[in-house]
Amino acid sequence: MANKEFLPPSHLKASAHVSSMAQYKQMYEQSISDPESFWREIAKDLHWESQPSDKFFDYNFDHTSGPIFVKWMQGAKTNVAYNVLDRHIQNGKGDKIAFYWEGNDVMDEKKITFSELKTEVCRFANVLKDFGIQKGNKVSLYMPMILELVIAMLACARLGVVHSIVFAGFSAEALTNRILDAKCCAIVTADGMWRGTKLINLKNIADEAIKRCKENGYNIDHCIVVRHLSPNPNELRNGNSCTQQIPAKRPCYDLKINWDSSRDKWWHDLMSTKTDEESKKCPPVWCDAEDPLFMLYTSGSTGKPKGVLHTTGGYMLYAYTTFKYVFDYHDDDVFWCTADIGWITGHSYVCYGPLVNGSTSVIFEGVPYYPTAGRYWEIVEKYKVSKFYTAPTAIRCLMKYGDEFVNNHDVSSLKVLGSVGEPINPEAWLWYHNVVGKGKCAVVDTFWQTETGGHVLTPLPGATPTKPGSATFPFFGIRPAILTAEGKEVKGPVEEGYLVFKQPWPGMMRTVYGNHERFETTYFKKFPGYYCTGDGARRDEDDYIWITGRIDDMVNVSGHLISTAEVEAAIAEHSAVAEAAVVSHPHSVKGECTYGFVILNDGFELTDKLITELKCKVRTKIGPFAQPDYIQYAPGLPKTRSGKIMRRILRKIAVGDTDFGDISTLADESVLGLILKHRPQTI
Ligand code: WT7
Repeated sequence: MANKEFLPPSHLKASAHVSSMAQYKQMYEQSISDPESFWREIAKDLHWESQPSDKFFDYNFDHTSGPIFVKWMQGAKTNVAYNVLDRHIQNGKGDKIAFYWEGNDVMDEKKITFSELKTEVCRFANVLKDFGIQKGNKVSLYMPMILELVIAMLACARLGVVHSIVFAGFSAEALTNRILDAKCCAIVTADGMWRGTKLINLKNIADEAIKRCKENGYNIDHCIVVRHLSPNPNELRNGNSCTQQIPAKRPCYDLKINWDSSRDKWWHDLMSTKTDEESKKCPPVWCDAEDPLFMLYTSGSTGKPKGVLHTTGGYMLYAYTTFKYVFDYHDDDVFWCTADIGWITGHSYVCYGPLVNGSTSVIFEGVPYYPTAGRYWEIVEKYKVSKFYTAPTAIRCLMKYGDEFVNNHDVSSLKVLGSVGEPINPEAWLWYHNVVGKGKCAVVDTFWQTETGGHVLTPLPGATPTKPGSATFPFFGIRPAILTAEGKEVKGPVEEGYLVFKQPWPGMMRTVYGNHERFETTYFKKFPGYYCTGDGARRDEDDYIWITGRIDDMVNVSGHLISTAEVEAAIAEHSAVAEAAVVSHPHSVKGECTYGFVILNDGFELTDKLITELKCKVRTKIGPFAQPDYIQYAPGLPKTRSGKIMRRILRKIAVGDTDFGDISTLADESVLGLILKHRPQTI
């Protein structure tokens, strides 16, 4: 079944940007053999204040011949906020809706046009300027999925200020580490947010992070707070709020927050000083194509998150191109990506990709099953969503509730269904295709990473025959290869190997912020001359690429990469724990989850209370989403003679599989039986 091919829907083909495999191949060949003219041509769609000074692109992927670097269009000047707003307004699209905002509460909705968005962005940019924040400074955004988040991002982009968004599910400690690493001079947050029935007091978490920064000798002078949960009625009446579509009908929640008036400022108070015509304008700061646009932290296999740095010109060009072709974007589309802006998917396909194409999209604050498991489909019906993009974990979760939740709604507006974040199992793919898409939509399984900036392996809706579970073929400009452990390229159908890329594309990361050496070591040292994804892949007899999962110590929980080392470090902080090892374990909805083995110090016993405390450690050090599903006692750990934990064996024990394969390098075999004996019976 998994090898069955699904042809592109004929009704899409007629108007598709790429409508056949022959056309895809021809464009692909050109993008590979002459990247410069390929991307130069596309770049003409965007505004550049000046042209590149020298080479259109330049790079070195081989650390043995010098430092690794990637540059696109260096010397060209542009501004991303100008491209996503002013450019469309000049083209007569000012009154087009940029976003429909749908709150967690079903009664809560807003909308904003491109012109209105530009005004809000300029006003907030002027607020930042008043604080003396300028090009090259970094600002941390720790916010719910609200329009103010996009406004803050674009205000930064307008000034050349680098945003560092921290997903609002991260803990105070994780936020602290990210602020310190990035050296952010200000933080923008909100009073709080609802996720389904859960109320999260964001301001308190931000306060805690600011306090911890101070303890580390680092002061945050400005904390700007959006009043999201208890809107001030005056603010709504005098037109200073960020949209015209008010009042939001949510009940007012009295959220108790603390206030330090020397540092904390309400967003609406600051914005209320920006109501005259002059304050509603802010000229874009022209940035070099290679100036940083944003950084975004992603887990690292050593445990310390890496600040992935993306730059201005190349990222914008790539977000523009991938969005246009992968979702086959047309002017009358309503696009909806369900990802949180706090992850790269939200950066590229909630904010930058749709906006740079001038698309109308939906931003949704809530969760898929609140108030019912029909919420997604209700939203699709309400806004007539034509292109929909979500994660396999959400699909599997909704599948469990049954088909009626989809069937109760008119989802006939849908044309393209995207999947991202983890391998999609054929069962979920088929449900997505048949039940959500009624067999008439193209399903695009897009493989990419925080580091790649945009899609790198993906079908194109009007061209690629798809196979459930395969991310199919490379996007334009991407040259994949599959390598053996010895670094030899394998041609033709193979079993699993290392997925790598041979040449740069405009949207790839440029460095790990503040640690270029780590960038080189993580992605380039293993196989000189190649960017190494850290994923395994194989190619079938028809040349389709199938991602087989991570080959490092990373676990993909609900589409989010979590480093086992980071979870281990959190657990090992507890005084009861002598040593911890964490591995991945299959999970029917999350795809994978984490499973911890703990060796305890003398006098401790692994009680339910202790398990809760250990999970709590992970919640506070990283965030609730990283909490292990299982923790078991281990009298010892399987180690090689050189002391390395053999996680391969622990993964087997976690699922109760006793076929350990080759254990000849194991120092002490007897430990296996002892660990197995303590495996909980309820798994
Ligand atoms: C890792 C990147 C950018 C997407 C959001 C996650 C896995 C992502 C797929 C897919 C199989 C996938 C890989 C990758 N992954 N998309 N379509 N099929 N695996 O971004 O947190 O940087 O994670 O997610 O393992 O390396 P991320």
